[in-house]
Amino acid sequence: MDLLKLQESFDAKIEKGDCIEPKDWMPDDYRKTLIRQISQHAHSEIVGMLPEGNWITRAPSLRRKMVLLAKVQDEGGHGLYLYSAAETMGISRDEMIEQLHSGKAKYSSIFNYPTLTWADIGAIGWLVDGAAIMNQVMLQRTSYGPYARAMVRICKEESFHQRQGYEIMSVLAAGTHEQKAMAQDALNRWWWPSLMMFGPPDADSPHTAQSVRWKIKRETNDELRNKFVDRTVPQAEFIGLKVPDKDLKWNEAKQGYDWGKINWDEFYNVIKGNGPCNKERLEARRKAHENGAWVREAAAAYAAKQQQKAAA
Ligand code: 3HC
Repeated sequence: MDLLKLQESFDAKIEKGDCIEPKDWMPDDYRKTLIRQISQHAHSEIVGMLPEGNWITRAPSLRRKMVLLAKVQDEGGHGLYLYSAAETMGISRDEMIEQLHSGKAKYSSIFNYPTLTWADIGAIGWLVDGAAIMNQVMLQRTSYGPYARAMVRICKEESFHQRQGYEIMSVLAAGTHEQKAMAQDALNRWWWPSLMMFGPPDADSPHTAQSVRWKIKRETNDELRNKFVDRTVPQAEFIGLKVPDKDLKWNEAKQGYDWGKINWDEFYNVIKGNGPCNKERLEARRKAHENGAWVREAAAAYAAKQQQKAAA
């Protein structure tokens, strides 16, 4: 089939809302966009284990420790799932890992902030996983089949993540004066970086318009961000916490909130590598990869031996 026909059949599939599968023809730029987005999504899951992992040994009870352990383990699984989805597009695991460790590939800005108190673990579950769910529920309808199917599985676990975070914040907010102050402090520090997670404003986003045309994105960065604010502000008020935005106010006409300005200089600074924890996060990932080399070698040696046996 000539190129024109291939493009027409791709366009017809996208138009119809069908999934594009690994064996289907696709434009190079479509493939490139998805390799970039899915691999960075996978990196975010893996790097996202670090700030929370920091509190596993310091969780305030056995129950909290078990829940946090389960959550961090889930994130690792999400990362592996997404690396496998990216591999269906022709990039190898080693290439993706090298892109992360060399700083070439991005991961979510949010994971470059420190987790200073136990309430941060609540704020991450509630706000960061809450924002991630907003985005990932939409990605369950993304046009690339393996990515959409990975999202269905991941979203089920993310909702548990968000609920356990909100429960931590509710208990602290209903606790002693110091506990409530700790929860409010965490909300103050995590609110704006969580809004940045959705990406730059649509007007400044180099990828959104094309990703919407390809139905990779079914909603834009700003649409999802506004949805997140409208959903999360009432949750904060319900547990007696105050969203740190002096311009936040309900707009009856639009049935949604008007709210303040995001500090985009901070966002671009963080994604350029100058956030509070960027260096520490990449260092930890490189070290974990080096320390795990013997496991990879043993697994590869075992697989080779099995192949020899099968061939004999
Ligand atoms: N952090 C780091 N980089 C970001 C970013 C963020 N929050 N938001 C945008 N960027 C980068 C983009 O990667 C792009 O840079 P690149 O061209 O070098 O890749 C640039 O800023 C322009 O942004 P765009 O909005 O034009 O880029 P996208 O169309 O890729 O949209 C996105 C950005 C909305 C994050 C999109 O990539 C996406 O939906 N990714 C999948 C979801 C995801 O990665 N979520 C991260 C969180 S995962 C998580 O939280 C785990 C949970 O379990 C806790």
